Amino acid sequence: MNVEHSTPWRTYLAQNPRSRAHAARAGQYVPAGTSRSLLRHPPFPFYVDRAQGIRSVDLDGNERLDFHNNYTALAHGHGHPQVMAAVERQLARGTTYSAPGAQEFALAEHLCARIASVEQVVFNNSGTEAVMVALRIARAVTGRNRIAKFEGGYHGSTDFVMVGGHGLPAPNDPVRVTTPHADVGGLPAAATEDVVLVRFNDPEAVREAVARFGPDLAAFIVEPIQGAGGVIPATPEFLRVLREETRRAGILLICDEVVTLRHAVGGAQGYYGLDPDLTTMAKIIGGGFPVGAVGGRRAVMRCLEADGPVANLGTFSANPMTMAAGLAAMELLDEAAIARLNALGERARDGLRQVIASHDLPAQVAGAGSLFQVHWTRAPLTDARAVETADATLNLLTFLGLCNRGVQLSMRGIGALSTPMGEEDVDALVAAFDDTIKELRADGWC
Ligand SMILES: Cc1ncc(COP(=O)(O)O)c(C=O)c1O
Repeated sequence: MNVEHSTPWRTYLAQNPRSRAHAARAGQYVPAGTSRSLLRHPPFPFYVDRAQGIRSVDLDGNERLDFHNNYTALAHGHGHPQVMAAVERQLARGTTYSAPGAQEFALAEHLCARIASVEQVVFNNSGTEAVMVALRIARAVTGRNRIAKFEGGYHGSTDFVMVGGHGLPAPNDPVRVTTPHADVGGLPAAATEDVVLVRFNDPEAVREAVARFGPDLAAFIVEPIQGAGGVIPATPEFLRVLREETRRAGILLICDEVVTLRHAVGGAQGYYGLDPDLTTMAKIIGGGFPVGAVGGRRAVMRCLEADGPVANLGTFSANPMTMAAGLAAMELLDEAAIARLNALGERARDGLRQVIASHDLPAQVAGAGSLFQVHWTRAPLTDARAVETADATLNLLTFLGLCNRGVQLSMRGIGALSTPMGEEDVDALVAAFDDTIKELRADGWC
């Protein structure tokens, strides 16, 4: 069957004529009509005109409940009054300075108070930059060159982590440690040669990688809950072995909390009791503005002191707008707010699972805390190999069907909740999913 004849596709075309025209115009000046490769999807993306609270409105006037929240970056939805007030106060005092602003200290102090392993922090402009600097710190501290990452882990778009996200071995393939494929063109050969790709959630794979490559490894980088890789939580045993093995072999452990910081006050590492050497952050800590941060123990962060070997650069790093918005957003995301968000997340996962069960679909729901994702596969969801077995067509049709019903997830199906949402919004998501499934079934897609 051709997706272009499906009801979700045809409805999407009918509902979005202005976005369609805009995509054609934008494509003349911006490749694929948007600078953000991960926001492209067939037949064309809808273009947002404005967003407030939990909703966005596109060029055609379609209103959608925003469960995308800019790839989990908006913990409080759009334009939260307290964040906006902080932004307005800062706007009146200047948007960027020619000397350090005092605002940076407050957000640094806040993050260090929240996260046990973070005693010092530096800011930059994206999670990508944070990971880039964390890898440099690890190389400088250890004097080693290689890094290890896990299959399916997404750590932004710096060269050495844009590998091993896709094209993975099959779930039943016994190979545990491999050389990664490049995820995009244009990477230096070193990006694949100097990276060791390790199976996620497999303690034996960690032991094997350390045994084979330990003396060359500067760092392991891990997400405690793989985000873009399918919202797959690590098992406590896997993280315990990873910490033990890296410590024993003098390899730095970088915990990438760019997505997972929202999981608990002290991040997912606090939830798991993980004690990494370095932590990378971004997304929610910017309150809706571009941000990245690297934090860690003083002994490691020392290499960023004035006489240290590593630099954290960036004309707009620690810019006062981001610092002010980020502090307001993080202060709002206290223990009670996170508990409420995570309970809503449980409700969303339960509701979606019930729909799947009631239609006996070849699908499952992954997730944790305030994050969830539907996967069109029956393979046990322990790592990204299982995620790769999912049916991409059904995923796209589900995404479009939900868009047509006023609900937005990420194109890959990741959902993230925000604090202004309530049970009724989660129930609306579940009802839209049920309606979408009924439509797909009527069309014979599932
Ligand atoms: C776990 C993780 N690390 C790093 C990044 C890169 O962050 P940014 O998009 O701000 O560069 C992302 C982005 O989604 C991410 O999910």
